Amino acid sequence: MTGSLDKTQIPAMIGKTHTIDWEETGMDDASKTPAPGENARLLQRQPERLHHYAFVVRDQEANRQFFEDVLGIPLVATWCEKGHHRILGREIEFCHTFFAVGDGSALAFFQYADDDAYEQLKCQRASRGQHISFKVDQTTFDEIQQRLNAAGVASRVIDHGYCKSVYAESPDDLTVEFTIDPPHVDKIDAWQRGIAHAELARWMNGDRKTNNEERPAQ
Ligand SMILES: [Fe+2]
Repeated sequence: MTGSLDKTQIPAMIGKTHTIDWEETGMDDASKTPAPGENARLLQRQPERLHHYAFVVRDQEANRQFFEDVLGIPLVATWCEKGHHRILGREIEFCHTFFAVGDGSALAFFQYADDDAYEQLKCQRASRGQHISFKVDQTTFDEIQQRLNAAGVASRVIDHGYCKSVYAESPDDLTVEFTIDPPHVDKIDAWQRGIAHAELARWMNGDRKTNNEERPAQ
């Protein structure tokens, strides 16, 4: 093998030696400096899927109404518990709910019986960038928009080019995103996997040139 390293070989090589054997690659001296990410030690098996994403809420029933009644995402588990909280340093009572999505993963929520616990443990300014996003098809995307409109919940749509999303805020200010992949998502994915490390290094080094040619003109 000469020239650029075939990345499909990297996991197998790393699995054997934990480092890339440059002699084995047949690459010349000038090529021996690994590109960012090329000698990353990856998991033997990637995590299967999201298990759950957890968020603190003030009122589980208000939260349930948003996720189940408005958005149509089912409540599938409610754990009622007491336990010592390591941050608060005392025993608290809490209710932990799970709302299922199609791949078996879940959105999870905590409500603490004690309002003081909520104030101390809630996410601060959750909507300022933090959000969770779900992949949907066009039918579900349209239904989500209709549900939000029917419930009078404010929403917004952004076409990022590599995906198109509708956003809304839960009663506790968690931004929830539902997004559709474009038809050529496989082509986009392959292109990005090839440039992701180099583009990250470029941006971190101060070169802020945009690379999203997929995003429609504003
Ligand atoms: Fe997002």
